[in-house]
Amino acid sequence: MTKRVAILISGGGSNMVKLVESMVGDHPARAVLVGSNDANAAGLKKAAEMGVDTFAVDHRPFKGDREAFQAELLKHLKAAKPDIVCLAGFMRVLTESFVREWDGRMLNIHPSLLPKYKGLHTHARALEAGDTEAGCTVHLVTPALDDGPILGQARVPILPEDDADTLAARVLVQEHKLYPAVLERFARGDTSPLYLG
Ligand code: GAR
Repeated sequence: MTKRVAILISGGGSNMVKLVESMVGDHPARAVLVGSNDANAAGLKKAAEMGVDTFAVDHRPFKGDREAFQAELLKHLKAAKPDIVCLAGFMRVLTESFVREWDGRMLNIHPSLLPKYKGLHTHARALEAGDTEAGCTVHLVTPALDDGPILGQARVPILPEDDADTLAARVLVQEHKLYPAVLERFARGDTSPLYLG
């Protein structure tokens, strides 16, 4: 049966667009909902233009009460009955209670070669460390930040002239290939890691 996919974003949503665009034809899943913690996220408009239902729950009025924020998120998500939830540039840390709701069914893309550089500023940290390669990882979400089982990774070289922006752009090209490829495999029940590049 076709899997229902909800996607959470915080900004431009370029990964979300690639995911939605990929879920056509004999793909085992369809995008049913795109949500954001920012009503002005550019990605929400793009999702609506692609015909996907959208919603926003602004985290700011909750003043750091993550459980209350997540309860609102959950209401919207559960109403859409997703089989899979994809975090795609969703920049709020989720607590254990939320993560447990989607145990083994929530994916995230992170712009580093995990387990390196969990958290923020991944590209600047890779440059600072003198790394010669960088990349992105799609993983299952578990309560520990950026820590769940790896479903796929793509690598890119770091060039001598790189700054965080040029490196981020090179990694993003790979994110756009990796995430749709991993989601399709995952929706078919294949959780073996996919390595690109
Ligand atoms: C992507 O590079 C994604 O890997 C990163 O945010 C960007 C979102 O871009 N995610 C994280 O840093 C999660 N901690 P997009 O909105 O254009 O997809």
